[in-house]
Amino acid sequence: MKTENEGFSSTFGAIMAAAGSAVGLGNIWRFPYICGKYGGGAFLVVYIFFVFLIGMTLMMSEFVIGRRTGEGPHRAYSALRPAHPAWRVIGLTGLGTCFLILSVYLIISGWTTNYFWESLVGTLAGIPDDGFAAHFNEFVGNPSRTILFIVIFLVLTTLVIIGGVEKGIERISKLLMPILVVLLLVMCVRSVTLEGASAGLAYLFNPDFSKLTGEGVLAALGQALFSLSVGMGAMVVYGSYLPKDSNILKTSVWIAVCDFAIAILAGIAIFPAVFACGQSPAEGPGLVYQVLPVVFNSFGGVGKIFSIVFFLLLTLAALTSAISLLEALTRWVSNAKRGRTQSAVIMSVLVVILSVLAAFSFGDNAVGRLRFGDMTLFDLLDKLTGTVLPPVCALLTIIFFGWVLKADEIKDELSNHGVHGVSYFKVFYYVLARFVAPVALLVVLISGLLS
Ligand code: PFF
Repeated sequence: MKTENEGFSSTFGAIMAAAGSAVGLGNIWRFPYICGKYGGGAFLVVYIFFVFLIGMTLMMSEFVIGRRTGEGPHRAYSALRPAHPAWRVIGLTGLGTCFLILSVYLIISGWTTNYFWESLVGTLAGIPDDGFAAHFNEFVGNPSRTILFIVIFLVLTTLVIIGGVEKGIERISKLLMPILVVLLLVMCVRSVTLEGASAGLAYLFNPDFSKLTGEGVLAALGQALFSLSVGMGAMVVYGSYLPKDSNILKTSVWIAVCDFAIAILAGIAIFPAVFACGQSPAEGPGLVYQVLPVVFNSFGGVGKIFSIVFFLLLTLAALTSAISLLEALTRWVSNAKRGRTQSAVIMSVLVVILSVLAAFSFGDNAVGRLRFGDMTLFDLLDKLTGTVLPPVCALLTIIFFGWVLKADEIKDELSNHGVHGVSYFKVFYYVLARFVAPVALLVVLISGLLS
């Protein structure tokens, strides 16, 4: 049963919202690093291939499944095959993954919001270059501040969800995405005009095929899925809000192009500056919270402004992604009796409990000492959501799309019930969905599990 008749008001609004979901921490703090690490331009070639062939195929599949049923992932699969309700498992696995991703995402968003605040009030500007590692460790080791910022960030996210699909999600995405692009361009201009910037551009773009290992290829596919927010059902939810007259394939192309462009711009904003100030690139938290603050301080007086701009940019990118995760979860539990507001609050409370618990992984406390194998709770969640669950769910989704749905059903949805024809482009993506994507995903999954 469809619980609401909400939806995006236009294709443009849908693209902004879905690009908002796609563009997130994955683009800004993960992509540039793995691109450099696995061979720069060489990695880029493989990454482009995965984004536009495999990732986009999944996005298109999720949009078809969502729009055709008007349902979230918990109902869409069984709605398409009522005789086989077991297909719901795909949607439920995706939603479980969204829940876990959001719990990890909130922690990092909490860190980022804190750093935005510390840039604003000038704390970061007062720290000596060799003090940032200690500052970060002390901050995460005592999670009360992280928890405060997790809660602030989550309250903002929840308010947007309560605002509704069009008035909340679509409106905020249409506002924030352009701001994000402008802030990123400001950072890029500063970065490439620094003396010595070319070493950073070379790190990012010079193809070094010797660094492109099997591991790098797998990282490229994993990153493509995560970055496009596919394989968790979030795009099924956004698909259910897609206007009936939107061209699904073209919409997916736009979202993939935005996501890819922003990842590249993030690399251009970060690495030339890092190299120009004599630092070496690091991954994730090390890069963002320990190396970049040194870079900003080296800019002198204007450094404070660039620090504010960067952490604001990262917070906004994280916000529009968290919105899509919470929306998927809200949609799951809302029904005729339990409305949007109540559902969003219930899910926020549940997810914040796990998130706060995992935030304690970094301190010297009972949770911090807890080990799963050699992993902390945070590491475990990170591993499950980073390498295990999304490819599983993506594989099941693509099998359902390519092999369970009939070609006629797909054709009907992709052509907007015959309004448009079926171009070679659509046939090409159908072939990818049936044959290429499942094999690629299976390979990633098996190698991921073996490693
Ligand atoms: N695509 C987001 C990023 O690159 O940070 C992460 C993400 C958001 C993954 C939403 C999955 C999702 F449903």
